[in-house]
Amino acid sequence: MSRPKVFVSRLISEVALSKVRAVCDVEIWTEPLPPPRDVFLRKIEGKDGLLTLVTESPIDGTVMDAAGPQLKVISNFAVGCNNINIQDATSRGICVGNTPGVLTEATADMAFGLLISSARCILNGADDVRNGRWKTWEPLRYIGQDLIGKTIGIVGMGRIGYAVARRCRGGWNMEVLYSDIVSSEYAEKELGARRVDFDTLLGASDFVSVHADLNAQTKGMFNLATFKKMKNTAVFVNAARGPIHVTADLVTALKEGIIFAAGLDVTDPEPPRYGDASDATNELMKLPNAVIVPHIASASVNSRNGMADIAADNLIAGLTDEPLRCWVNPEVASRRRR
Ligand code: DGY
Repeated sequence: MSRPKVFVSRLISEVALSKVRAVCDVEIWTEPLPPPRDVFLRKIEGKDGLLTLVTESPIDGTVMDAAGPQLKVISNFAVGCNNINIQDATSRGICVGNTPGVLTEATADMAFGLLISSARCILNGADDVRNGRWKTWEPLRYIGQDLIGKTIGIVGMGRIGYAVARRCRGGWNMEVLYSDIVSSEYAEKELGARRVDFDTLLGASDFVSVHADLNAQTKGMFNLATFKKMKNTAVFVNAARGPIHVTADLVTALKEGIIFAAGLDVTDPEPPRYGDASDATNELMKLPNAVIVPHIASASVNSRNGMADIAADNLIAGLTDEPLRCWVNPEVASRRRR
């Protein structure tokens, strides 16, 4: 019997790849940059399974049809699946997998790192040292915001939101507010968190950290009007998806002192279109009160190895008609492609 054919769109851990190789004929894109769109479409043609990253976007019905009717599974190497049209996959009987859980603590660490670096002017100060601009100890320079006993507002109290709130509550005795479409009894019981409406959260929080999916409701939810509802001492953290904030509005909010600082693991567009005046990220990057890192919240040893392991298992399960380990569209089970 012929082995299933899969396309893996970037190098991942060798342990995970060898699991896949044991069962499948594997074609891997080994370049550091993602395959260009036309190349990606050519590569996936005739494949039974795809292991994709957030950089492969969008993966919609047209892409799935370009792969062909044999495509059974798309295993995304990420917890967020906004790069995949899940409805299109489900209606075609294609299974979709993701990699939740293993990246929760690493992502929360990064969100907290961004919070403290932007609140305490760490990047700005370090840049001055590196570039020879630090001349003396100054009583009134590099003055940041205190963390102890303040209020953290979590937008999206899922696994990662909870892990950030736990750090803020346990380590810095912060009051925890959250907004979400569902309530988290667990966060309320364990952390004394209070669910409030979005506007209340904006007005009352010293730090606002976003941990929500990117969807029609969350796209652009942080815009000039939203920033104006925040304290002018507030710090905004986004370790979820770039399009949740409006970049040009964030620039205005930071330049005009509408909020104090921002820490971002994600940008919109991602990566920035360097040097292109139509991309406000170029201006954002120059602001002393913006800390931006290259979408690395899940980039720790255990987290990335764990993601690779789940992604490999999801791919194999999709090809062998087994339930996926982390299944985004389990409702497809009764009519999945065989
Ligand atoms: C995810 O998993 O969704 C991250 O953003 C990529 O690590």
